[in-house]
Amino acid sequence: MKDKFDIAVIVGSLRKDSISRKLANAIVSLAPANLSLRFVDVGELPFYNPDLDADDAPQSWKAFRASMAPADGVLFVTPEYNRSVPASLKNALDVGSRPAGQSIWAGKPAGIVSGSLGGIGGFGANHHLRQSLTFLDMPAMQQPEAYIGSFGDLFDENGQITKDGTRDFLTKFASAFADWVKLQAKDQL
Ligand code: FNR
Repeated sequence: MKDKFDIAVIVGSLRKDSISRKLANAIVSLAPANLSLRFVDVGELPFYNPDLDADDAPQSWKAFRASMAPADGVLFVTPEYNRSVPASLKNALDVGSRPAGQSIWAGKPAGIVSGSLGGIGGFGANHHLRQSLTFLDMPAMQQPEAYIGSFGDLFDENGQITKDGTRDFLTKFASAFADWVKLQAKDQL
């Protein structure tokens, strides 16, 4: 059994000042020592088109697939776009799922954190993502669920969390996710 797990962090927002990215940074800093978290960018991936896979696949797809393949788990941190996930995140799921039979997602445990400026906390995005992860055969952690509402005032100018309750919750979430990744790894022994 490994004593450190390689976790790919995928952020659903491409914005320079993304609050979701601040949220992801916060979770990385709060995570237990047995998780080694690294960001994998999805913003430069061309839209998935099977025709391109039939030829020589785009270099960025190859690099993304190669980067994701060794990950022991995936942490998704995403805003909600029109009650679903942003297109960049869905595109990354599609790119990683092909060619058929060579999906880089299957069996990787997942954690999902959604956030929004309003009170609903990206519930729609969170659950649309869960629907895709079911098909991709990714065991998604069920509890605690993480819907971070009103995240517009969650960070100060240095990117530090301003609300103790949310910091405590994210610490618990990261700890539960570490346990979840470890449990799934055990199942694969
Ligand atoms: C949004 N936003 C949004 N918010 C929400 O709670 N539910 C929604 O369905 C949507 N839809 C939506 C669509 C599009 C195209 C944009 C650009 C925005 C608002 C969104 O949550 C807000 O802009 C967040 O700040 C985006 O997260 P980042 O970029 O700060 O991480």
